Amino acid sequence: MKEKMFMLATALVMAGTLSLAYAADADKGKALFESPTLGGGTTGKSCQTCHDGGKGLGGDLFDREKLTIMGMEKNNVEEMVNVCIEKPLGGTAIDPQGEEMQDLIAYMKALVSKQGKKESKKKYEGC
Ligand code: HEC
Repeated sequence: MKEKMFMLATALVMAGTLSLAYAADADKGKALFESPTLGGGTTGKSCQTCHDGGKGLGGDLFDREKLTIMGMEKNNVEEMVNVCIEKPLGGTAIDPQGEEMQDLIAYMKALVSKQGKKESKKKYEGC
């Protein structure tokens, strides 16, 4: 019994360490971005369908103070991603801290950084 408990504890600690140490992978994120089954999507659309090459994703997406999507205020980009998974993809929100989300975010950061920060100028005025 003791041994079993010890093994369970070790497994839990290892799982915790692994999830903390997870390094987001933009290549995996790209595959998810192009996948119509992300979040169990049902409409046959993927992020790529509407946001090809970062279209519609503001260059300042990751620096904005206030995030709104489809008229709803959101606390972070992960929540915005889940709105697009639930609505246009017809899927179910994915874990905002999960590996898939981290991969997606890593890919989206690369996408928006290519567009420059054109929309962020105003925010820094008067700083
Ligand atoms: C059917 C088209 C469509 C699909 C598919 C789609 N989106 Fe969107 N997305 C939109 C539209 C339209 C907006 C702008 C909504 C608004 O007016 O606020 C948007 C906005 C966003 C934003 C906010 C951009 C910004 O700069 O404010 C993010 C982030 C985003 N989408 C991520 C995704 C991700 C990730 C996927 C795939 C899971 C996805 N979208 C799939 C249409 C789509």
